[in-house]
Amino acid sequence: METVVSGIRSTGKLHLGNYYGALRNFVKMQNEYNCFFFIADLHSLTTHPTPQDLNTTVRQVVVEYLASGLDPEKSTIYVQSDVPEVAELYLYMNMNAYLGELERATAFKDKVRSNPDNVNAGLLTYPVLMACDILLHHGTKVPVGKDQEQHLEMTRTFGNRFNRLYEVDYFKEAFAFSYNDKLVKIPGLSGQGKMGKSNGDADCIYLSDAEATVKKKIMRAVTDSGPTSPNQSKPESIQNLFDLMKVVSSEDTLAHFESLYNTCEIRYGDFKKQLAEDMILATQEVRSRIDDINRDEEYIKKVLQRGAEKAQASASKTLREVREIIGLKKLY
Ligand code: TYM
Repeated sequence: METVVSGIRSTGKLHLGNYYGALRNFVKMQNEYNCFFFIADLHSLTTHPTPQDLNTTVRQVVVEYLASGLDPEKSTIYVQSDVPEVAELYLYMNMNAYLGELERATAFKDKVRSNPDNVNAGLLTYPVLMACDILLHHGTKVPVGKDQEQHLEMTRTFGNRFNRLYEVDYFKEAFAFSYNDKLVKIPGLSGQGKMGKSNGDADCIYLSDAEATVKKKIMRAVTDSGPTSPNQSKPESIQNLFDLMKVVSSEDTLAHFESLYNTCEIRYGDFKKQLAEDMILATQEVRSRIDDINRDEEYIKKVLQRGAEKAQASASKTLREVREIIGLKKLY
């Protein structure tokens, strides 16, 4: 059976981008594959969270994983830092990752542009740690959103390079995966590209947002004065709302509003009201489970303890083999 590995950083509440880009695929995949899903707390250290915030957000992501339907009986659910083997593998793989290729990574360049005061080495070598998450369990399928595609390409580069250097056929190639034919990119409400926390809370619909909050955010999304000629193309701040509707509404509903747009009869108030209703419905089940799971401290502990044990067993086998391949043998 193929192995699936994926994770989400613990930077706060999960939004619809995380859900439709990654988490919803996790939930489906657990029925078909051997799955490892983790909370990437080590990756989130690049932004220097306070210890308290780090702790709270890790817990929050675990709760939202479970509320979305991840089943600890089917998948291994764990916190990345509970398996320190990944940090050891990261050290080895860093010897073999080159400055030029790391500097060319799109996500790195974006971060340098948006956060010039915090260009740390962890940010530069972020793709190496991500590759290690996957290689640690010999993952071949990685459910992620479109923005992570390049990181998967780098993962293959690092794994193949290791194989060539040590003349082994050890690491397998991993590929980004989505049940849609294309990797997903969920736009934000502000119409400034993909939904993401860095664009502010108003850009994101969080899984834990109350119904009234979802409605308020959507009704406040900026639109324009409406189309003035038939079939005109949509500006980004309108297209994003249609793209979101495509994800949460029925085909008929989408076609109805597309047609109203094309004939210049659309009323954005009605359009957004429908979008809000459908979005509330699409996330209702997850939202309703978040509070219940949040209260069940024992359950959360049990899930993570068991997950850590299972992930550690897989990781320690890999590290034993990697040390052997590299030639790190004890002389005593
Ligand atoms: P992160 O935490 O930024 O995002 C988690 C997942 O959510 C997806 N995503 C989106 N998909 C579609 N549209 C959006 N607007 C959107 N926003 C976020 C991301 O593509 C991702 O799948 N590097 C990863 C975490 C990670 C990882 C790994 C993933 C660490 N190690 C190993 C897979 C395998 C990240 O930063 O995701």
